[in-house]
Amino acid sequence: MQFRVPRGTADILPGEVEKWRYLEDKARDLCRRYHFSEVRTPIFEHTELFQRGVGETTDIVEKEMYTFTDRAGRSLTLRPEGTAPAVRAFVENKVYAQSQPTKWFYIGPMFRYERPQTGRMRQFHQFGVEVFGARDPGLDAEIIALGRDYYEEIGLTGVTAEINSVGCPACRPVHREKLVAFLTPRREKLCRDCQARLDRNPLRVLDCKNESCREITAEAPKITEFLCDECGPHFEAVKETLDLLGVNYRINPRLVRGLDYYTQTSFEYVLEGLGAQAGTLGGGGRYNGLVEEIGGGDVPGIGFALGLDRILVALKDQGIQLPVGRRLDCYVVTLGEEARKRAIPLLAELRRAGCSAERDVLDRKMKGQMKAADRERSRYVVILGEEELSRDAAVVKEMATGRQEEVRLDRLVDYIRAGSKR
Ligand code: HAM
Repeated sequence: MQFRVPRGTADILPGEVEKWRYLEDKARDLCRRYHFSEVRTPIFEHTELFQRGVGETTDIVEKEMYTFTDRAGRSLTLRPEGTAPAVRAFVENKVYAQSQPTKWFYIGPMFRYERPQTGRMRQFHQFGVEVFGARDPGLDAEIIALGRDYYEEIGLTGVTAEINSVGCPACRPVHREKLVAFLTPRREKLCRDCQARLDRNPLRVLDCKNESCREITAEAPKITEFLCDECGPHFEAVKETLDLLGVNYRINPRLVRGLDYYTQTSFEYVLEGLGAQAGTLGGGGRYNGLVEEIGGGDVPGIGFALGLDRILVALKDQGIQLPVGRRLDCYVVTLGEEARKRAIPLLAELRRAGCSAERDVLDRKMKGQMKAADRERSRYVVILGEEELSRDAAVVKEMATGRQEEVRLDRLVDYIRAGSKR
């Protein structure tokens, strides 16, 4: 029997892992500069958290969750996203009682039962940020700029932020009513999914990818025409700050997002050319009602999540090589039993001194060991030969230059360490 990874998941092997680490390190460093702290929540949660948080009529809750019953009969779900869990942690740990705002970020796997394709996985990975406790529209713009900065720093080009306002419980119903009145006489021309959406979640008809639905909705009433006295000026202020920050953005009145918790600002980062699905590199928005929905007080929130798997697809597509690589400082070649005995404490010392060091464990001849050192792209090779050992010395060869010299064993670690720092 041959085992394979479950559909929509992937192994990340050495060589690839370094790229992931690079992306994660960049995210952490950017978050440090924006003064965010890392949070880690469980991989699974009570199913109800997502039903309530993400919304019963969303695709995620209706058909994409990995839900199971544990041995005690509880319904649990592998997290499909990170916002509802972050809100739960914020409420459960009474973080709202501390000084605000709360600025969190997270990096980790999420799970959705979707049809796998390039950039769409069943286990995928997000870098997300969430800010609780502030309504300032300038913050919305700063969050959008943070995502922009991230893409820029890893070298991706051509990313545009699409923004919209989805209003609030005061103005959304007005728009919804107009939208339903517009769509109902055109119902038969909508795709089957949209006919169902019209009854359950009419706003979602606006972001259907189907060409004929898009033609119909091109003329549909736009939410931005119905924003209330709070949401309208808020949206204007967001745009103003985006201009101040020099963010490349475009207003997309169709942008409604696939999760129910959004209010006011919604946005997505899109990359032309990667296709509708893989091209959406990230998304987020404000969610001023979610903390209350999950049992906390009236605390506003805003955040985003960027898909790391899609970023790697986009980097590859743009031919961008991340500056990563495994490096070996020193390969110790041994000839004979005496040399092997001397090599073992030497390796231990090198490693304690911070150098990466390796030796042959396959009983290879000199030539084979030299080849292995070359394959590992080792910076130095230390050759412990009988003759040099009798003088308590070894031959050190710098692989890049081919230069070699005899170095006394008691100076060897300093020699390698100094060289590896250069
Ligand atoms: P989302 O739009 O569902 O938002 O996901 C954010 C990003 O995660 C997507 O733009 C995409 O890059 C990536 N993504 C989603 N599903 C997949 C998948 N199946 N395979 C690969 N990548 C995927 C959220 O998750 C919200 N929690 C974002 C947020 C945070 N809003 C406020 N705070």
